[in-house]
Amino acid sequence: MVKVNNLRNGNLNRNNLVYRQLSSKNIQEVYDLFEGNSAFFSLPFDYFKKGTLDDDGIDFDLSLILYEIEKDKPIAGLLIAIRKISEEKKGFIKAFVVDKNYRRQGIGTLIFDELLKRAKGKGLNQIIYGPAVPNYWQPGVDIRNTSLYFFLKKYRFKSHRAIFNLTVSLDLIKNKPPLKKEGYKYERVQPEDFDMLYDFVKQQFPNNTWAAEVKFSFNFNPPTTFIAKDTNNNMVGWATHSQFYPGSFGPTGVKESLRGKGIGTILFLWCLWDIKQKGLHTSEIMWVDGNTIKFYSKVSGAYISPIFYPMYKKIR
Ligand SMILES: CC(C)(COP(=O)(O)OP(=O)(O)OC[C@H]1O[C@@H](n2cnc3c(N)ncnc32)[C@H](O)[C@@H]1OP(=O)(O)O)[C@@H](O)C(=O)NCCC(=O)NCCS
Repeated sequence: MVKVNNLRNGNLNRNNLVYRQLSSKNIQEVYDLFEGNSAFFSLPFDYFKKGTLDDDGIDFDLSLILYEIEKDKPIAGLLIAIRKISEEKKGFIKAFVVDKNYRRQGIGTLIFDELLKRAKGKGLNQIIYGPAVPNYWQPGVDIRNTSLYFFLKKYRFKSHRAIFNLTVSLDLIKNKPPLKKEGYKYERVQPEDFDMLYDFVKQQFPNNTWAAEVKFSFNFNPPTTFIAKDTNNNMVGWATHSQFYPGSFGPTGVKESLRGKGIGTILFLWCLWDIKQKGLHTSEIMWVDGNTIKFYSKVSGAYISPIFYPMYKKIR
């Protein structure tokens, strides 16, 4: 427990504030804080836990949960995971929120100054509000989140590009997709194929964390990944959903030599079908680039929304 000593302004009594570490004991109230105060994002509790206590990169000293002692409740929180990327240690902020009733009183500033102070002792090169792959929720600051965007700008965070998610209405999905088409068969991945799929993803996409992301979907019952095989039972493609949060789509991929044959479309439709069976009305396709946006738009009427800015700050 660390006492708070330097509240800049506002009416709060600084002696009444304390940092407490995130743990299995307080995770429910920390979840309630984030869930109740995030304007454009919502997660079920089990996904919140998966992205915090179950994320082996989460840093419990840098993840700051600020409590008002008198009320014995958290009023602000910042969640951060450390990832090592090409020998550099980077701190990824996964979420940051101040309770609505406590905003614009310097609480965010207080927490951030504490974060920067503690980050120095951790050997971090950079702090990023962005995609903490393979275990992340959002690839940056949702630009509708105006207060957060300007808050980070005040701290001289920079942003060089936008990342697009796409939204798809599931009203369009009326029929179950085919189990077989043009020599390829489609099915939900089963445990006996987990290793083959993991190796396939690693081999096809060696330069990113997709294999690890797909592997997370094996923990769901039933698994939320669909695969395509050829007549010799060789893996030719896969698509994963609800790995980041319910209704999220991705990652997906088809063997390079077989692209353009409609395999990716059917895998995508299987995921949308499966999401719809869970009672959701929309799916969000994660982190889509240039021409791929056109593909999804053509196949499913997907449109760009929401838009994120990954924001970066170097630490000296
Ligand atoms: C961003 C946030 C954490 C800032 O916390 P805060 O305690 O209100 O911030 P502070 O009082 O320390 O303000 C610091 C600076 O942030 C910026 N800022 C804060 N609120 C702002 C707003 N509504 N509009 C524009 N800038 C804002 C300003 O630059 C401000 O400095 P100033 O007072 O000198 O102008 C808080 O507004 C918040 O929780 N927003 C919603 C975040 C959210 O939805 N997260 C969900 C994703 S996880």
